[in-house]
Amino acid sequence: MASRYGEVYAGWQKDPEAFWAQAAREIDWVEAPRQIFDPKAGVYGRWFPDATCNTCFNAVDRHAKGARAHQDAIIYDSPVTGQKKRYTYAQLLDEVSTLAAVLLEMGVTKGDRVIVYMPMIPEALFAMLACARIGAIHSVVFGGFAAKELATRIDDAAPKAVLTTSCGIEPGRVVKYKPLLDEAISLASAKPTTVLLLQREQAQASMIAGRDHDWVEAMSAARAAGKRADCVTLKATDPLYILYTSGTTGVPKGVVRDNGGHMVAMTWTMQNLYGINPGEPFWAASDVGWVVGHSYIVYAPLLHGATTVVYEGKPIGTPDAGAFWRMIEEYKIVSLFTAPTAFRAIKKEDPHAEFLKKYDTSCLRALFLAGERADPDTVQWAETILGVPVIDHWWQTETGWGIVGNPLGLGMLPVKHGSPTVPMPGYDVQIVDEAAKPVANGKMGSIVIKLPLPPGCLPTLWGNDERMRESYLAEFPGFYKTADAGFKDDDGYLYIMGRTDDIINVAGHRLSTGGMEEVLASHQDVAECAVIGIKDELKGEQPCGFVVLKSGVTRSPAEIEKEIVGLVREKIGPVAAFKIAITVARLPKTRSGKILRGTMKKIADGDDWSAPATIDDPAVLDEIGAALKAKGI
Ligand code: COA
Ligand code: AMP
Repeated sequence: MASRYGEVYAGWQKDPEAFWAQAAREIDWVEAPRQIFDPKAGVYGRWFPDATCNTCFNAVDRHAKGARAHQDAIIYDSPVTGQKKRYTYAQLLDEVSTLAAVLLEMGVTKGDRVIVYMPMIPEALFAMLACARIGAIHSVVFGGFAAKELATRIDDAAPKAVLTTSCGIEPGRVVKYKPLLDEAISLASAKPTTVLLLQREQAQASMIAGRDHDWVEAMSAARAAGKRADCVTLKATDPLYILYTSGTTGVPKGVVRDNGGHMVAMTWTMQNLYGINPGEPFWAASDVGWVVGHSYIVYAPLLHGATTVVYEGKPIGTPDAGAFWRMIEEYKIVSLFTAPTAFRAIKKEDPHAEFLKKYDTSCLRALFLAGERADPDTVQWAETILGVPVIDHWWQTETGWGIVGNPLGLGMLPVKHGSPTVPMPGYDVQIVDEAAKPVANGKMGSIVIKLPLPPGCLPTLWGNDERMRESYLAEFPGFYKTADAGFKDDDGYLYIMGRTDDIINVAGHRLSTGGMEEVLASHQDVAECAVIGIKDELKGEQPCGFVVLKSGVTRSPAEIEKEIVGLVREKIGPVAAFKIAITVARLPKTRSGKILRGTMKKIADGDDWSAPATIDDPAVLDEIGAALKAKGI
């Protein structure tokens, strides 16, 4: 079918408010919006400022009380525990409204923050939706972070309660959450007063009397007493959640998502970008700790009345490289969304896709990729083995949905490998130079989005309008800075080439090298350090840390390097995947003392490089090359 993209995008350009007013009709509002956008409110304006609504009502109640009551809302499949379970919308409503009553009983009310520290189990979704139901603001923390990272988030969000489990399960390893949580709470100054904990059979957590409550007992008591909580009416502009993401320092940014704009954007994308019909099984193989999980495991599919999949496993090793194909066949999944890393992992394990032959994946209509650059080799391989469109799309935690993509629901545009295709309605994407002047097609520049950002994007950072302005709006007045660099071709296709800041992308996980440098610098023997992201065949990038030891340190560098690797795991967490520390005599610097991280990266990646004219001593670059070689890099 011919794509309607051009017409739809032009319609948005002509009258953005009419476009979003139309999209807003898909939502059941308490009071429908009369004003679509208020340019004077908030940091750069607010969407649907006079509307009221409840996200949980739209994601759960309206389906549970309508024709979808007995349709699956959630499919849970956990190869790491051997469990499988399904919840209809009616069952989901029962779980969520009961849990919301438990939260109220614990003293959690509208506007309170709640940390959700849970693995990929249905209860994580119940937790998020129960918060949404009573207007509490959830903040989900990914299980692969260490106690200190959790403590930073607790301090910023100042939660009243924490919802958690005794453990998560990584292949071959039970990750005990409770000791990490207890340590985080002891490190934090904003201490939550209540913890609700789900005991899993793989680990029994010890409970602190008075503070910690057992999930199953609390739910049984609420059920026995017939307690259910209703949806609270919220302003469309009230926060639904805070999701922390790496910033350029060790302190993460609390990305805020509102209720109204988010619902409108999520719903629009399900049909128009992903081409999903209500009732269809849609699987985002990510984690609820990431934005992809928030948007496309939880909110968008449920708002749209689709069936979502909660998969507690990996693309490989649980048990093999056929795991994804088994899931697609078993649950008749029509669209899979994951990060390119997952496909690189499958390809590495099973290059000829032998496992695929064992399964019938004919129900699959498309594969969506995001989270990191989709390298053409991986895209091509996926297209060949699956025989369906493979659609790369580009977005960020901040935007909550695709900035640039290929809108399957509007009719696909021709695919160009290496490009996530074109801007979605809502986004006026431009490539500019340092002076915020547009650059010619084909020329690299900073990627910026003309304000206002569309519904669903962050209105601000939690409690910090100033950091929002400083981080995203100050450098290019009138625009949002994506901190990605890239170019546009003559057909208007975007190419996203990398970050302009110190963020790196490791297995689709966003990490701050600045944050890692803070950890390295805290080691007693380290005088100076630099962390860069170096090319990795599987994970896209992997962090590599260079350290200069303090004079007079006599311990062996190998011993110190091992400690440093351990320190990053302890302070940031296993998700940092920090495995390479290299001791060097000095770091390459400009005459003004700036460390030449860009040149170091080129050397490590085997790219062409030349010594910058401003370098203090070019010989240091050869020393870096030799140190990398000595480590086999
Ligand atoms: N809880 C605790 N630890 C976790 C975790 C979690 N939820 N998720 C990952 N980790 C740990 C891993 O066990 C690993 O620990 P290790 O160093 O002891 O082996 C470490 O964090 C690094 O994890 P990861 O970078 O994911 O590497 P991996 O080798 O475990 O797995 C892939 C590699 C490609 C299989 C995996 O990254 C993957 O499935 N990626 C899919 C993409 C994805 O989910 N992206 C998210 C955004 S869309
Ligand atoms: P996150 O906020 O974790 O989703 O990470 C966002 C960052 O990941 C972006 O700023 C990009 O650098 C990168 N990214 C996400 N999707 C893509 C993509 N499709 N192509 C290239 N880079 C991407």
